[in-house]
Amino acid sequence: MNNNPQLNKSGELQHLLTTEGLPASILLKILDTAESFVGVTERDIKKVPLLRGKSIFNLFFEPSTRTRTTFEIAAKRLSADVVNLNIAASSQAKGESMLDTVNNLSAMHADMFVVRHSQSGAAHLIARHVRPEIHVINAGDGRHAHPTQALLDMFTIRRYKYDFHNLRVAIVGDIMHSRVARSQIHALTTLGVPEIRVITPKTLLPAKVERLGVHVYHDMKQGLKDVDVLLMLRLQNERMLGARLPSPEEYFKNYGLTQEKLDLAKHDAIVMHPGPMNRGIEIDSAVADGKQSVILPQVTFGIAVRMAVMTILAGN
Ligand code: CP
Repeated sequence: MNNNPQLNKSGELQHLLTTEGLPASILLKILDTAESFVGVTERDIKKVPLLRGKSIFNLFFEPSTRTRTTFEIAAKRLSADVVNLNIAASSQAKGESMLDTVNNLSAMHADMFVVRHSQSGAAHLIARHVRPEIHVINAGDGRHAHPTQALLDMFTIRRYKYDFHNLRVAIVGDIMHSRVARSQIHALTTLGVPEIRVITPKTLLPAKVERLGVHVYHDMKQGLKDVDVLLMLRLQNERMLGARLPSPEEYFKNYGLTQEKLDLAKHDAIVMHPGPMNRGIEIDSAVADGKQSVILPQVTFGIAVRMAVMTILAGN
């Protein structure tokens, strides 16, 4: 018997809510299944019938470009029926509660909900509420978790670096408000990365982050030395209460990734960013568009990874 709310009694994935507590076997199953879908996404006819007849509802209560679109593309490539609920035009705007909205969509025979919400725990709440045959995927909740982003990041790292067990990975930027960083740290740790660094101003460092097993740096010059993978983060201004930084210019000077700073990492280091990017604040355009950047391949791999997650949840 397991007590992980994401797993069923047989230890299989029932919902995907967070990378925390998921065993390596499940993370690797998602990455391996995604490998098989990369071929599908490169064919002329990009559809397979694995989710034919299934109804997937995208519930995005917060803005999104990459996640919402790639979930929609992934579901369509699996031949599912996809409904993108327009939250602004839905009954939420008339005061209906989130769970009442979910109840009504469940009554329309939803098979899966993909949920993004500004409140941490929203996807967990829905997962506890729905009937057992409905699956919930967290597409980002507050500052808590963004598991499919972390999984597509792991997929990208494995594609370029092959093995997790000899890597030095640096996560750079606004750790405090980042659901992506938390999900990345849990996934990297479970997959056996021996050294995870976080590089951040003191004002953007969450309390007790060392308990996650990461090494903390406040200086890019020290933190980037001999790193294999750089995971850049966006400044999450929408989640910051009050001013935590002197100015964007000062942040760029100290923590923005320029080619000069990147040259401190290994010569074949890769640069990643979940998007949306603030060019000239977190990252210089020359680096974002440079030869070590794998930022756009991340987006492409996100389709295959989301296809894998939905296929595994549906039990195929
Ligand atoms: N990485 C990410 O979550 O981007 P979106 O907000 O565009 O979905």
